[in-house]
Amino acid sequence: MSALTLSTSSAATLRADAIVVGVAKGPKGPVVAAGAEAVDKAFDGKLAAVLEALGATGGEGETTKLPAPSGLKAPVVLAVGLGEAPAKDEAFGHEALRRAAGSAARALAGTKKAGFALPVEDADAAGAVAEGALLGAYSYRPAGNAAAKKNDKADKGAPLAEIALLGGKPRDKAFKAATERAATVAEEVNRARDLVNMPPNELDPKTFAAAAQTAGKEFGLKVEVLDEKALLKGGFGGIMGVGRGSDAPPRLVRIGYTHPKAEKTLALVGKGITYDSGGISLKPAGHNETMKCDMAGAAAVFAAVVSAARLGLQVNVTGWLALAENMPSGSATRPGDVLKMYGGKTVEVLNTDAEGRLVLGDALARASEENPDAIVDVATLTGAMVLALGNRTFGVMGNDDAFRTSVYEIAEAVGEQAWPMPLPAELRKAMDSPVADFANMGERMGSGLLAGLFLKEFVGEGIAWAHLDIAGPAYHESAPYGYTPKGGTGSAVRTLVRLAEHTAAGDLG
Ligand code: BES
Ligand code: MN
Ligand code: ZN
Repeated sequence: MSALTLSTSSAATLRADAIVVGVAKGPKGPVVAAGAEAVDKAFDGKLAAVLEALGATGGEGETTKLPAPSGLKAPVVLAVGLGEAPAKDEAFGHEALRRAAGSAARALAGTKKAGFALPVEDADAAGAVAEGALLGAYSYRPAGNAAAKKNDKADKGAPLAEIALLGGKPRDKAFKAATERAATVAEEVNRARDLVNMPPNELDPKTFAAAAQTAGKEFGLKVEVLDEKALLKGGFGGIMGVGRGSDAPPRLVRIGYTHPKAEKTLALVGKGITYDSGGISLKPAGHNETMKCDMAGAAAVFAAVVSAARLGLQVNVTGWLALAENMPSGSATRPGDVLKMYGGKTVEVLNTDAEGRLVLGDALARASEENPDAIVDVATLTGAMVLALGNRTFGVMGNDDAFRTSVYEIAEAVGEQAWPMPLPAELRKAMDSPVADFANMGERMGSGLLAGLFLKEFVGEGIAWAHLDIAGPAYHESAPYGYTPKGGTGSAVRTLVRLAEHTAAGDLG
C-alpha cells in the first residue's frame, strides 16, 4: 500500500511530484479551500480565477491539473473538487474530504509522491483525508502483473506511492493517533478488496483459510479451521450442503482477537462463498460473472478482526468465516434435499442459489454458542436488496431495533451508505415446509427481508444481532468515484471497526 507521512513542510517547500489543494463550489464560482494558502500565494492570489478560467467549478470529484508557478518546489498542482462550500464558520464534512482525497489520489496514479494540502481543521479531518487518500490510491496488484513486477516507470496504473499530509500537527497526539488509525483501517479495507478481487480459481475456501492463518500469526490472533471432515463430524449441514458440489471443500474459520481487559465480546459472521454459480439452480449467463465477490462478507469480517488487533481495541472480537464454493455436480445438493443444520434445525433446500443463508445459519448458531454480547453478520445475500437500495447502499436488519439503529448510524458516520430495513414477522410463514422446519426460500416479494428472517432463526435467544446485506456495495462495476475503485470495495469494514471501537468504549447497550 502507499505510504503515509506527516509533513511539517509547507506546500511551497515540499519536494514532491504534485501538491493537492481543495476547491469548493461557491455561489459565484470556485473557492480555494483552507490549506492552500501557500499555493494560492505562489499564484499571486489568483488560483481561484485561474481554475475558473480553466472551467473548474469545485464540484465533487472534479480534478484539474495545473503547472506549478515558480514559487513551488513541486512541478504540478492538482485541484480537487470538494463540492458545495460549507456555510460560514462550518468545516467540510469528513466524507467530502475523504472522497476528494480519494479522487486526487486516483488522478495521481503513476506518480510517486504528492503533498495533500486539503483543509484539515482538526485531527479527525486529517484522519479522513489520510483514509480517503490511502483508499483512493488502491489498485489490485496481482502477483503476476508484469508491469508491477518490473516496477516499471511506464506502469500508469501504479498507485501513488507516497502521500504526505500537510497543514496538520504531526507532533500533536490526537493528530498522530487519528492518522495512524486511518492508515491501519485503510490497509485493512484494502486487504478485503484484494481478497474480493482475487480470481475464484486462486481464492477457494482452503486458500482463504490459509490467508487467515497467516494473518493470525502476524497479528497474534487465534485461528481455528474446521475442514470438511470436522464440519461433517460437527454437524455443520448447511456449510457441507453448500460445499459438497465443489472439488474445493468448505471450511469454517474462527479467528479470534482478545484483549485482557475486555468487558464485551463482539461476534462477526461473514458469508464466504468464494464463487456462487448458483449450484444445481444454476445462475444464467449475465448473473455469474461477478460472483467471485460472494465472499465479500467474510473478507470484511476478516479485515475487521485484524483491524481490532492492530488497533489494540479493548474488546474481544471473534470472526466466523463461513467458506464454501457453490457449484453444480453429481455430488451437489439438489433442490428438494433436506439439510440438518448446526444445532439441529432442518431446512428444505428449494433453491440451491439461496446458499448464503445456509452457510450463515450454521455459523450464526455456532457463534451464538459462545454467547457474545452482540452478533453482526455481513453478506452479499440477496439481489432483492440491490433492487431495493441500489448499488451503493447496504441494508441493515436485526432482532433489536436499538442495536440496528446504532449500526446504521455508525455506518453513516464512517461514510458508508446504509439504510435500516424491517423484518416483518408475517413473511416468515412463506418459508413453511411440509418436510422440514422451514425452506430456504419463500415468496419473491420482500425476499431480501425473508433472507434476514431465515438468518434470525439461527441467532441465540437474547443476543442482539444485526444483519448487513452488502450485495449492492460490495462490488463496484461502473467507473471509480471518490475513494471507491472498480471491483472489490471493502464494504462494511469501516462500519465493523467503528462498531468494535464503540463496543470497547462501552457506549453501546
Ligand atoms: N450471491 C447471491 C446474491 C447476490 C446478487 C450478490 C447480486 C451480489 C449481487 C445469492 O446467493 C443469491 O443468489 N440470492 C438469490 C436468492 C434467491 C434464489 C432466493 C437472489 O437474490 O436472487
Ligand atoms: Mn446464490
Ligand atoms: Zn450467493
